[in-house]
Amino acid sequence: MIVLDQENKIFTLHTRNTTYQMKADQYNVLLHTYYGAKIDNCDLSVLLQCGERSFTPNPNEAGSNRNYSLDVAPQEYSTCGVGDFRLPAIELELANGSHTADMRYEGFRLEKGKYALEGLPGFYSTKDEAETLVIMLRDAAAQVVMELYYSVFEAYDLITRTVRIVNQGTEEIRLCRCASLCLDFPRSDMDLITFNAHHLMERCLDRGPLRPGIQSVGSVRGISSHQHNPFVILCGRDTDEDTGMCCGAMLLYSGNFEAAVECSQYENSRLVMGIHPFHFCWTLTSGQAFTAPEAAMVYSSNGFGQMSRQYHRAIRKHLLREPYDGRRKPVLINNWEATYFDFNADRLADIAREASALGIELFVMDDGWFGSRNNDDSGLGDWQVNLEKLPGGLEELVPRIKNMGMKFGIWMEPEMVNEDSHLYRAHPDWALHVPGRAPARGRGQLALDFSRKDVRDSIYEQMKVVLSSADIAYLKWDMNRSLTDVWSASLPSRRQGEVYHRYVLGVYDLLERLHRDYPHILIEGCCGGGGRFDGGMLYYTPQVWCSDDTDAIDRLCIQYGTSFCYPVCTMGAHVSAVPNEQNGRVTPLKTRGITAMSGAFGYEMDLGKCTAEEKKEIRRQVESYKTHYNLLHEGDYYRLSSPFQDRSFTAWEQVSPDQREALVSVVYGCINAAPLFGTLRIKGLNPDFQYQIDGAEPLYSGETLMKAGYPFPQIQGDYSAFQIYLRAVG
Ligand code: DGJ
Repeated sequence: MIVLDQENKIFTLHTRNTTYQMKADQYNVLLHTYYGAKIDNCDLSVLLQCGERSFTPNPNEAGSNRNYSLDVAPQEYSTCGVGDFRLPAIELELANGSHTADMRYEGFRLEKGKYALEGLPGFYSTKDEAETLVIMLRDAAAQVVMELYYSVFEAYDLITRTVRIVNQGTEEIRLCRCASLCLDFPRSDMDLITFNAHHLMERCLDRGPLRPGIQSVGSVRGISSHQHNPFVILCGRDTDEDTGMCCGAMLLYSGNFEAAVECSQYENSRLVMGIHPFHFCWTLTSGQAFTAPEAAMVYSSNGFGQMSRQYHRAIRKHLLREPYDGRRKPVLINNWEATYFDFNADRLADIAREASALGIELFVMDDGWFGSRNNDDSGLGDWQVNLEKLPGGLEELVPRIKNMGMKFGIWMEPEMVNEDSHLYRAHPDWALHVPGRAPARGRGQLALDFSRKDVRDSIYEQMKVVLSSADIAYLKWDMNRSLTDVWSASLPSRRQGEVYHRYVLGVYDLLERLHRDYPHILIEGCCGGGGRFDGGMLYYTPQVWCSDDTDAIDRLCIQYGTSFCYPVCTMGAHVSAVPNEQNGRVTPLKTRGITAMSGAFGYEMDLGKCTAEEKKEIRRQVESYKTHYNLLHEGDYYRLSSPFQDRSFTAWEQVSPDQREALVSVVYGCINAAPLFGTLRIKGLNPDFQYQIDGAEPLYSGETLMKAGYPFPQIQGDYSAFQIYLRAVG
């Protein structure tokens, strides 16, 4: 609910459990007065403190009032060069060369439903599911107008934000920074949580106290990256899964980003999140506008678990757009780790046949089916079937697979080109490069200049021929390098600071075209390649291959970190062969199944090499996944332990919204000879319900399971695992 006090220029956004408030003050500076647990309507600016402080300038109109300074005021969207020395949200270069921005409140409007962003991803809603407040600010000297957008999704405690800037002057201005989110806190005794690491070990949680000065994570790789995720949390020092305050900030963007927190001299803190200012400079000629990517905040007073579940619900219902919409998505088999580039039609058909017999429903043909693609160094850009490998083309292969009762999916890497390709030989200038400089290669390939429409159009023409040539149900959109040598022949030198962002807009453009033209195709993004596990990609690709590391034990960490923001249905997760291809670890098949099942489930191995016993186990896993699909994908997710804190076991749980069902999954670490007799406290149950476990007696009350716990079974063997299924009786 959005509550307005027009006389006092107070704007209050209420969600079910939280309140967010802004107020335009006596100088029309828009201040952030509160974000936290729900408070009934009142003027929370009473909480703001001000007083004279040395070296904090006073705005000219404050006259002799030295108690007022932008340098201590919690600006809702921080300006630059006019008195606030902390992190700016906006940085303008005016025609006269000055870097100043001074935005003052001018008005507001209310809209039903969620605002939409042209060409950018965002949460969506019907007219009744969200409300929008737009606050207008103006810099009179610069003749720049800024619109701050806020949409409130009440039931999810979710507030989405973005900013639109319009040049209303006659002269050109340059936008050097335009954050999506600026959030001031009247305290700095908080921890910052970020999700980091590298390819093959993404989104590992790091938590540490705020320190004086600026702390930041970000990416200048042209992709949101494996190294840092565009999702961060600020929380109390004692916050845990179930108690304490935390505030999540998610940027729906797949390119360069920065999330920075500054603790100021008076121990306030400010979070600014948006496009990374590195090599970002957007020219706005008279009348032109720029819209920043969307950010989405969730505040929880009850720990991380509640915050995550609210993100999960909102993402599932209002961000993902997928052809299955409530129906179960197919279990898939992907041939990559089974064959790499070495396959032909018969080999693929063999894998599909084995898979089909085990209940697997979608066969995905990965890299290597096109052009001269027999290794990393050639073929990208030539999206024509390699008829030596697949003599009858897709026209023959796809019906062959479909006759086995399976759907067919295909892999592509549309943004990339190898120098050894027809495309590159015909259009060497289409690859990103700086004139006079030989571009760096990544995995032996170059990136196409996706900021250019002509380049995208040409690639899309090729894609359409492939996607229309057969009944294709799934597309994996891969991307296997970071961007370097970022320069575009389509823009003059003073506009080269737009290329990174235009590249991302180009990717979104092509993905949107796919959505429009092939709404029945499930598109999977790739964070093995691409590193883009972010809210931006999820709008177009409702699941993302979570990591190229398929080892079940490493995946516990990766999927744990990912779950803080993103729901399990978005995490592509496959059972692969052992010893694991990436780290050589041997884990039981059951453990691999349990881990991958809390994800968009599939297999990635040569099933022909499995023993009869293993095939039986795979058939059982597939059945179990199908049986519990709604619980796994739509259930409320609870982290029961952290693989970063407790290496002896990792446990998590999904609970149905009516609390009548729950599935608990536990994976052990290294086992010792005399394991402890412990219990696992289960969460999210109804204390008054009686639960049957795996269909057997005795019954346990929800209260017992939550307060006293369930005894750990005594299992032998490193990395063993178990699942228990709880159903309320009566
Ligand atoms: C990276 C992906 O993450 C893998 O799953 C696979 O598709 C390879 N690329 C293929 O080149």
